[in-house]
Order: sequence, then C-alpha cells, then structure tokens
Amino acid sequence: MSETWRIETRAVQSGYDPKPTEPRIPAICQSTTYKYDSAEHVARLFDLELPDHMYTRISNPTTAAFEGKIAAMEGGVGAMATSSGQAATSLAILNITSAGQHVVAASTLYGGTYSLFANTLPKLGIEVSFVDPEGPTEEIMQAFRPETRCLFAETIGNPGLNVLDFAKFSSVAQKMQVPLIIDNTFATPYLCRPLEHGADIVIHSATKYIDGHATSVGGVIVDGGRFNWTNGRYPELTEPDASYHGLRYVEAFGPLAYIIKARVQYMRDIGATPAPQNSFLFNHGLTTLPLRMERHSANALALARFLESHPAVSWVNYPGLESHPSYQRARTYLPLGCSGVLTFGIKGGHEAGVKFMEACKLVALVVHVGDARSCVLHPASTTHRQLSEEQQIAAGVTPDLIRISVGIEHIDDILEDVEQALAASQS
Ligand SMILES: Cc1ncc(COP(=O)(O)O)c(C=O)c1O
Repeated sequence: MSETWRIETRAVQSGYDPKPTEPRIPAICQSTTYKYDSAEHVARLFDLELPDHMYTRISNPTTAAFEGKIAAMEGGVGAMATSSGQAATSLAILNITSAGQHVVAASTLYGGTYSLFANTLPKLGIEVSFVDPEGPTEEIMQAFRPETRCLFAETIGNPGLNVLDFAKFSSVAQKMQVPLIIDNTFATPYLCRPLEHGADIVIHSATKYIDGHATSVGGVIVDGGRFNWTNGRYPELTEPDASYHGLRYVEAFGPLAYIIKARVQYMRDIGATPAPQNSFLFNHGLTTLPLRMERHSANALALARFLESHPAVSWVNYPGLESHPSYQRARTYLPLGCSGVLTFGIKGGHEAGVKFMEACKLVALVVHVGDARSCVLHPASTTHRQLSEEQQIAAGVTPDLIRISVGIEHIDDILEDVEQALAASQS
C-alpha cells in the first residue's frame, strides 16, 4: 500500500497484493489449518517469531486481507476481525479490562452494546458508568475512577443519531490517560476516521455498511497504534504474560502490542472468529464502500428534507439537516455526508406508525440498517414491544418513531414509496 493513497484507492487496493499467477482477488481460504515441514517452523510460529498462519481461530489469509484493508482505510497499524460487532466490542474492552476494573461510556449507544455494558460486563466484575455525551467535560471526568480502563462512544449514536464531540471526548481520554474506543459502525471510515480525531481504537459491526448487502454478521477492531501503554496503568501489556510463556507485548511488538495481544490471547481463548467466507464478503463490501456511502448519505438527506416538509410528519432526526442539534458538529466530523439512517415522528402515533410500516412496498420491513436496500422499522410495535411505554420512552423510542435505513436505490423511487405509505398511514 502507498501511504499517500486516498481512501477510495485504499478501499479498492489495500490489504492484498498478489504475486504473479496468484488470484487477482483474495480467494476464500476455507481451511482450518496450514501445513509445515519442520518442528522448528511450528515452534517459531508459536513463539510469534514468524507472521505465518497457525490455525484459523487465530488468523486466516482471507480474513487477513479484510483486516489489512480496513486497517488501511481507518489509518490504523493493524486490525483483528471478529465473528460479530458484539464480539468486537467485547474483545476490545476485555483486552485491557479485568474484574474489579471500570469503563466510562456515552449513554447514547446501540441497545446490544448498552445491554453488554449494563448487564453482562458487571457479571464479569467490570462496572460501566454511563455519561451524557452532551454533558460538560467536568461531568464526564467525574465518572472516572482510579481503576477506569477506557472511554467508549459511538461516532453517530444508534438510534439517537447524535454526532460525537470528538474534541471533548479525546481530551478527556488524554487527561485521564485511558484509550478512547469508538464504535464507527454508522459513519464507516469513508465518512469519518476517528483515529484522526483523537480516538485510539476503532470497532465496527461489519454486519452493517461494511458488508452492505445484508449477507453476513461480523465485526472488526482497528488499533491506532499510538496509545502509550507504558503509562504504568496497563501491566497486562507491559509485564510478562504467563499464558504466553512470559511475553511482554509492548516490548515485543511496539505499536502493535494491543492488537497482537487481542489476537494471540483473547481470540485464542474466546474464539469469536469470523468464517473465511464472511471475511471474503466484507472485503468485497469495503471495495465499494465509498461509492455506497456517498449514495446512502445523499439519499438520506433528500428523504430527510422531504419528510421535514410533509404534513403527516411531526419531527425529523438526521444530522445532515440544518435543524439538527448535531448539524455543526456533523460538518466538522462528517464533511462528506451523515450516512443512511434517519428517524422521524409520524402524526397519529403508534397506530399510524404500524400502518406506515406495513404500507411501505419498496422500503422493506427489516430489523437491520446499513443494507443497500432501504428498510423501515417502527420500534414501538416490533423490537421494543416487550417494554412498557415508560421504558420505551427512556430508551428513546416514542410511539410515533419510525426508523428508515435509506438504501442506494433511485431517490425518486424511495420518495414515491414513502409518500404513498404516509398517505396510507393517515387514512
Ligand atoms: C452501532 C452498532 N454497534 C454494534 C452493533 C452490533 O453488531 P452485530 O450485530 O454485528 O453484533 C450494532 C448492531 O446493530 C450496531 O448498530
């Protein structure tokens, strides 16, 4: 890869450089294992002296091509793919956080991440404090404890669609000497590269825009390689690892310490490995990501503007609209577009919401975002129906809320479908 390549070129070319007669695109290496000629070769592999593959739970050539491409696109030093976005978040945190330790996270998170932080990590002895990302710096800093290990937030909150104040979050992380971990799923590296705005680690649900075609569940962790693990707070990276015959990660691997530890310790032990076929599809997805994100963003903005002036709509939430509280911040951090997801309030509340969702024809009822095909969801009657109305409102789900993940179809076809569904919802 050339260091000067722009993001569009990295999306197409990075991560795989075939030699003469090798396949033009990375083949699906559907093999658990690899063959060697000598005990010495295997010993050197297990001593991490050679970069070759040992076992597909730990690494695989097809997965390596995907990892190389996403690392290049995010501007990181290395990446590790996982079997889901949830696995990426879990491993990114567990890699540097143990029982008795603590995480500070923005409260505006994807529901699955919120549940992981509020319910599952505490069962492992890891407490998480949630902070209002719009709160003052001092308030966020007050949530820190001596045992806090990282600060976590999303570039574009799901489903609130608030754009993160990177300047504030990165300065807090720097002052508190912890890494800033960012879930960049909704923005993707085409629209925002958190490592350029002070983040240290980036994670993705590759299931969304990276795949882009609703074929595979997966995730990835990208390491910026700049965090100072030798600040005295991260002995697991600087002191000998008893599970790896005394290896000291920082001493042995320098800027790659975090991501190599994640692989040879956590992926080895937990095994949340992507299938090579899925890595192949994620690699393909990345190739066209810049083009798709341009169209997703343009279509979502056009639909948001249309909805804003429609009489059956009471409010529209999309950070690309001048009326959105994150609009100025979006211009700073998302100058190329605000991605494809928007929410709006339909007049007539719950009943109209169900009617609208069922009347959509092109825009399909699907519990997903980030697909090339437009999808719609009325959370109050579907994903959040087990919650009471009070609990739904606390989760940001009002009875009138509709979410649309705007696809890359022709905008006029999307507008026509939404228009007829709005009319049906009011009858
Ligand atoms: C922002 C965000 N992060 C993480 C996840 C979890 O990803 P996965 O479903 O791939 O486990 C999701 C899933 O919707 C998401 O929207």
